[in-house]
Formats: sequence, structure tokens, C-alpha cells
Amino acid sequence: MTSLNATSDSVSTIDADALIVGYDGDVTAHPQLTDEVRAAIAESAAALEPSSKAGSTVVLPGTGVSATRIVVVGLGDGSEGDLRLAAGAAARACGKQPSSVVVAIPTADDMTASAVAEGALMGAYTFNDYKSDDEVASYKGADWHIAGASEAALSRASILAAAVTGTRDLINTPPLDMYPAAVAEAAQGYAQQFPVDVRVWDVPELAEEGFGGILGVGMGSSRLPRLVRVEWAPAEAKSSVALVGKGITFDTGGISLKPPKGMETMKSDMSGAAAVLHTVLAAARAELPVKVTGWLCLAENMPSATAQRPSDVIRIYGGKTVEVMNTDAEGRLVLADGLVRAIEDNPDVVLDVATLTGAQGVALGTRTSGVMGHEEVRTAVVTAADSVDEAFWPMPLPSYLRESLDSKVADLRNIGDPMGGMLSAGVFLQEFVGDTPWAHLDIARPAFNDGSPWGFTTSGATGASVRTLFRFLETRAGL
Ligand code: BES
Ligand code: MN
Ligand code: ZN
Repeated sequence: MTSLNATSDSVSTIDADALIVGYDGDVTAHPQLTDEVRAAIAESAAALEPSSKAGSTVVLPGTGVSATRIVVVGLGDGSEGDLRLAAGAAARACGKQPSSVVVAIPTADDMTASAVAEGALMGAYTFNDYKSDDEVASYKGADWHIAGASEAALSRASILAAAVTGTRDLINTPPLDMYPAAVAEAAQGYAQQFPVDVRVWDVPELAEEGFGGILGVGMGSSRLPRLVRVEWAPAEAKSSVALVGKGITFDTGGISLKPPKGMETMKSDMSGAAAVLHTVLAAARAELPVKVTGWLCLAENMPSATAQRPSDVIRIYGGKTVEVMNTDAEGRLVLADGLVRAIEDNPDVVLDVATLTGAQGVALGTRTSGVMGHEEVRTAVVTAADSVDEAFWPMPLPSYLRESLDSKVADLRNIGDPMGGMLSAGVFLQEFVGDTPWAHLDIARPAFNDGSPWGFTTSGATGASVRTLFRFLETRAGL
């Protein structure tokens, strides 16, 4: 198991596979790195022309130190964001499956020390469950020694990193094994370990209570849909927050089938639900004084003889009817059920998180998520994201788009104006939240990195939104 420890030993005398040192034009003067060792590292690094650009790395043999190798990493402007990213990039340069790593990056306070530790653990993430080499598959991570960090900083970092990497694991697991009931079982497993309460709705209960969105999307698959509620409810809660996650364990598009290329990354279509589950667990582990209720809207979107058809009309929980013109616009259907049900319990604020639209990527690119909704909540989400250095950008919900969702036969149809497709999806969801303070987070592309790793962002699932959601909850708790 990965472990995270503070160390006050001289960092050059710790036996480790790698020693990470910062570079800001010179090898940084960490108090636990002696001047002689620092000068020697700087001299041998110089030949390789290290850069102070955040996350650029140069690897040296561990001459003069007890570690096997030295990773010199550029610290950029030294901000919390650059340090987190740098630690992540350095972690990826520590060689294959290190068992022990020392980090000697100077930090000013607990927040920056937490950022460095978070970055290291996120960057070191690997997903090897499906490799046949036993040694690879059984690797459980390194012992991390963070020089000069406080216990408080490391405790926050380890909770956050576990939430991000746990989210990545759920998403990266192939859809053959990660179907709706499997996600529900994972949630129930966590409830044995952590002080959260889990309830699962299976098909008969979903049908009896009228969850027509989740049932409509899920009916095309042999692996049946679920709704899961996972709740952290401390006695001293200062506020209540509902988090609703899109949990499409695989999105083929259904009868409105996607082309093959468009399906390659669609195991990531449960990223919202995975992030919600692990954010609730993190809130419980950190004992945040805020009630957090997560709703995982789980279905597999398949084309089959039992699948819903374009032009079918379904009834969302609470009674609104929707004409399903395109079965590939399925996320908004399961979320509508989840939002209405979440709001029935009167939370102070509700956020939904979803890989909702391809249009998100067209508008904002692969790394920046969109956030829409009531202005105050939207701004609070952007502020939370800024403070943890996640990229979220405010987007509007123009009222003129509403009429593009008019249906001739039902209350609404599920596709609107394709110009601004991220926004019309948001306008659809808005129909189900009434006056409850609400924001919608579209993490479609940022949730999954189908390119090369960068900083602490490994390839595959990224865990996008988890740190923002956690920071949002901290703020609601007055922290
Ligand atoms: N899961 C997709 C959105 C998506 C696309 C996420 C690419 C990540 C990467 C969603 O269910 C979808 O298919 N949306 C459609 C909506 C359209 C039919 C209105 C889309 O964006 O094409
Ligand atoms: Mn879809
Ligand atoms: Zn989808």
C-alpha cells in the first residue's frame, strides 16, 4: 500500500529509489538538503540543462546521496498549482514501481505541503489490475517521505489523493466488470470501511417509485440499472449538500449508436458518479461538518431489442414527460431522475457532475470543464476550483434555448439546439431543479486523458472534479 510520511531526516541519507529535488534556476535550497549535496546535484544537473518550467524533469544517478536516482524537477512560479503539477511530473520520473521515494521540495505552509504530496501521489498512480505479469499487477505503490511536511498537511493530502485515485480506478476498470450493480457493490463495500450510509434502488424499486429516466436508459442492457444514495450525515452539520453523478458505465449511444471511434473512451461515462462517490467518502474521512448526500445514477446505454427507441416517451421521477429523440442524449435522462429525487430531501444546494456533452470539449477543450447554473452556486464552484487549481469555466444558460427543447407530444424532448450543445443540455437539466440553488458541472473531456500524461494527470481516467467538489464542501463547512 502507498504510504505517506513526513520526514525530518537529512534527505540525502535516506535509502530510497528516488530523491526528488526542486529546480528554480538552481537546485532549490531545501533545509534538509545540505549545501554540499545541493551544489553537487546542481553541478551534475547543469550538463543536462535543467529547466525551471513547471514539471520538466532531468534524471541523474544518485551520486553522493543514498537514493538510487535523483529527479530534478522545474517548479515554475513556485505557486501551489505549479508545485502540485511539478511533484506529479517528478513522481512519473521515479522509475518503474519504486518502493520508496523522498520528496525535497521546499513548501511555505500546510496548503503548499499538501499540494506537493497530492501531486506526488496522483502522478504516481498506475492502473495494473489487468496486466498478466504478477509483479506488475501486485504493485501497491511506494512509501513516500515528504520532507518538512506537517501531519495535518499529509492527512488532507492522503484523503484527497485516495479520493482521486479511487475515482480513477472505478473509471479505468473495463465496462465488462464495472456495470451498474458492480458500482453499487463497490459503494456498499466502502460503507463497511467508512462512516457512510448506502442505499441501493434496484429495478423493481426504481419501477415502483417511477424513475423513468434511469429505467429508460438502462432497459437496453442485460446488466440492469441502479440508483445509489451514499450519505455522510454528521451530527454537527452546518449545511447540506446533494451531489448527483452521471453513472453510465458504458455509453454506446443506444439505438442512436455512436460510431466506433466515439465509443473508445465511453467507459469514462460514469466519471461523475465515481467522483461523487469518492467525494462523499473523502468528506466522511475528513469528518467535514456538512451533510453530503451523493446520488449515483447508474445505467449501461446499449442498443438491443429491449432498448428505448427515438420518439419513445418516458416519465421522469416526479412526473415530467420527455420525448427521447436521441438515445445518445442519455445522461440528462438519468440525471433528471437523480436531481428531482435529491431535491425532494431539501438540500441547501445541489451540484450535478457529468460527462454530459461532446460539445463541452468543442467549447472548452480537453482540460477545462464547464459549470452552469444559478449564478451564486456557479461562482462558488469556480472559486473552489481556482483554489485547488482545477480548470472550471463559467458558462451561461441562455433562456432562448429552452424552446429548442419543446416536444409536440411530451413536456420536453431530450435534444435541443446543437449550437451550444453543452448549454442546451444544461437548460434541459434546469427544468428539473426548480428554485433549489444548483450548478451543473460538465466534465466530459477533462474526465479522461486519451493522450500522454502531463503533470499529475496520468493517462486514462483523471479524477477531474473531485478536488473541486471537496473544496466546495470545505467552504460550505466554513473552512
Ligand atoms: N457521454 C456522451 C458525451 C461525451 C462525449 C463525453 C465525448 C465524453 C466525450 C453523451 O452521452 C453524449 O453522447 N452526448 C451527445 C448528445 C447529443 C446527442 C445531443 C453528444 O454530445 O454528442
Ligand atoms: Mn450518449
Ligand atoms: Zn453519455
